[in-house]
Amino acid sequence: MGDQVDLSTGDSTETVRLVVVDGEAETELVVDRGRVLRDVLLDAGLSPYSRLTERANCGGRGICATCGVRIVEDLEPDHWHDKLAERFGYPRLSCQIGVTQDLRVDLVEKVIWGNRDE
Ligand code: FES
Repeated sequence: MGDQVDLSTGDSTETVRLVVVDGEAETELVVDRGRVLRDVLLDAGLSPYSRLTERANCGGRGICATCGVRIVEDLEPDHWHDKLAERFGYPRLSCQIGVTQDLRVDLVEKVIWGNRDE
């Protein structure tokens, strides 16, 4: 296991653990239950976006489909776009996923709109 980052605020009595995989690196995050996955990733400096979509995205409204990640656990989608992503095997929209359980999250390689590292 790599780094461990505690993002919990102390306001919530419940926290969950995320393991975020970025290539060879793994980071464990401790976060308040119920937060939006996209926001947690951004707070931890583990952006789900590419270089270009980091600035040009829909702000978490479930429209642009640029915040995709892979979720290892079986996690039921709520949002229509995320349901389609789940159904067809595309990366899930991190802005539409509430962190309600421990999760393993893979940051996917971005092939359009610039990759993640440049
Ligand atoms: S930020 Fe646009 S769909 Fe998630």
